[in-house]
Amino acid sequence: MTDALVIFTPSGKRGRFPLGTPVLTAARQLGVDLDSVCGGRGICSKCQVSPGMGEFPKHGVTVDADALSPWNAVEERYKTKRGMLDGRRLGCQAQVQGDVVIDVPPESQVHKQVIRKSATQRDIVMDPATRALFVEVAEPDMEEPSGDFERLSQALAEQWGITDVRADLALLRRLQPALRKGEWKVTVAVHRGNHDAAPRLLDIWPGFHEDGLYGLAIDLGSTTIAAHLCDLSDGRVLASSGVMNPQIRFGEDLMSRVSYAMMNPGGDVEMTAAVRAALNTLASEIAREAGIDPQSIYETVFVCNPVMHHLLLGIDPVELGQAPFALATSGSMSLAARDLALTAVNPSAQVYILPCIAGHVGADCAAVALSEEPGKSKDMVLIVDVGTNAELLLGNETRVLACSSPTGPAFEGAQISSGQRAAPGAIERVEIDPVTKEPRFRVIGSDLWSDDPGFAEATKAVGISGICGSGIIEAVAELRLAGLVDAGGLLGSAEQTGTARMLPSGRTHSYLLHDASAEGGPRIMVTQGDIRAIQLAKSALYAGARLLMDEMGIDKVEKVVLAGAFGAHISPKHAMVLGMIPDVPLDHVISAGNAAGTGARIALASVAARDAIEATVHEIHKVETAIEPRFQEHFVNANAIPHAVDAFPELHKIVTLPEVSFNTGGGGGAGARRRRS
Ligand code: FES
Repeated sequence: MTDALVIFTPSGKRGRFPLGTPVLTAARQLGVDLDSVCGGRGICSKCQVSPGMGEFPKHGVTVDADALSPWNAVEERYKTKRGMLDGRRLGCQAQVQGDVVIDVPPESQVHKQVIRKSATQRDIVMDPATRALFVEVAEPDMEEPSGDFERLSQALAEQWGITDVRADLALLRRLQPALRKGEWKVTVAVHRGNHDAAPRLLDIWPGFHEDGLYGLAIDLGSTTIAAHLCDLSDGRVLASSGVMNPQIRFGEDLMSRVSYAMMNPGGDVEMTAAVRAALNTLASEIAREAGIDPQSIYETVFVCNPVMHHLLLGIDPVELGQAPFALATSGSMSLAARDLALTAVNPSAQVYILPCIAGHVGADCAAVALSEEPGKSKDMVLIVDVGTNAELLLGNETRVLACSSPTGPAFEGAQISSGQRAAPGAIERVEIDPVTKEPRFRVIGSDLWSDDPGFAEATKAVGISGICGSGIIEAVAELRLAGLVDAGGLLGSAEQTGTARMLPSGRTHSYLLHDASAEGGPRIMVTQGDIRAIQLAKSALYAGARLLMDEMGIDKVEKVVLAGAFGAHISPKHAMVLGMIPDVPLDHVISAGNAAGTGARIALASVAARDAIEATVHEIHKVETAIEPRFQEHFVNANAIPHAVDAFPELHKIVTLPEVSFNTGGGGGAGARRRRS
């Protein structure tokens, strides 16, 4: 026998190879996904395989005990020093001696799948832009003079097929000592640029270097900045952390920040400096939390709305404040972290920013599209990313539409009399007994309801401080279900409703949810103003969804996905009672968690995913709510709870909405007013 049949599992790829061929070589020639950092030098152990023995009727082969070359000294050394599972071999050391079936375990695959925890989410296939590679470089020679960098480039071309590599001055300064210390063997971190950029050396270490390469996936929101620190080799999340966006002091919502830039010369520069400083703090803190050196962060991926996008890049956002809302650029961007003054990470670190869809629909929406893939859905799905602005995507495999709707910060607990951010002590769940009109509630930080024994004790430490976004949605919906608020959004008086919890306040009324004033604590009320704020926010959200449905030519959707950190906490039933989202059976409302952050992680883990979303955004049709006349009509109709015109038949199957009316012709009527935040 001069050559042998080699079959790889799970890929099923097979081919004949001359006896003595290393398994790693066979894998490469067949295009089997088998990892290697050291290029087959028996150092990295990434190439581990599990050879099978005996009969393989499915493949029509019998594998003899000596189908591979004997266990060798390199493998023995590795096993003793670092440990290796029994039955495993190093693919670069074991040579083919006879027909053989070789299994490549998941951890030895470069493009390994990272299984995401939630069943509704898809897996990430690793295809990172930055990889560590071990190379042996030729020594300098008086006869054939050439620079060390040129010989390193040549070695990368010969040993890894990477050509035209670039390095900046900071790396060149460290090149010669590293090569000599490593005796002409070095490990380099190579970044494979997209946008036809040449590959770039980000770091160099003498000899074989095993410490990880890390990246940050950052969801840069108007209110909060959330980051995941991920291992670039396997996509694992090592730490997740968030900070408030310090730009809040320049304006709570996006348009007030644009106004700040318009009214104050240099205001944009101030806001850019503030967010960059926060990003540096966040990068240092998250690295400390994960126990890694922030200098080993080599990549950062950003998703953000268009205003944040411009302010991060140091581009004046004033054009985004006026029609036709032109972006400086809508394309994705690849740049050096130092260009954004991100000094906490490695000095050579690279940044990738996802593409924006249009003037009001940003890279955050593109990230949601990357994570949720509406363009692959068979069902007509509406994806709602609720934040200070709501991003909406509607579509299925034939067509996808997007818009952004100015909900304002009410859903985040702002503009609410007892509103607060979702933090320990905030009321997050509310129930009101339809007969007694008495409430019970839960606060963040305790699993007990307020009428459970032990509640007072359990909440002593955190206190009961206010109502967060999901809490106010439940409170208003429960008030509607209990007949304390009418379809127009008007709260009744104590006489009209029969409960002393309705307290007069000027010409309107407020519902007393919790009273700790006797102990010096707060009185937490739901006021008429709170209901109005929620009505405005939910009308904007629903009007945006209706506008997309009009454009699609449909009257109902099949599935609703609630995304965003807040979306994860909204109760679908209460959202539907309010008429925040179109009427669908409740079990067709799914929570996707922080889909924008997940999209950022996917883009961090995979260059192929970056290419995919860049292609996809061109196919997403953008609907501009600000200039669409029907938006106003939809907005006014959506002001009623749940809706003035749309019937909501699915909702009526599960709840009965009391037919009450508290409008006696006095003040506090439904003042539908439109506002863009
Ligand atoms: S390829 Fe590195 S040990 Fe085999």
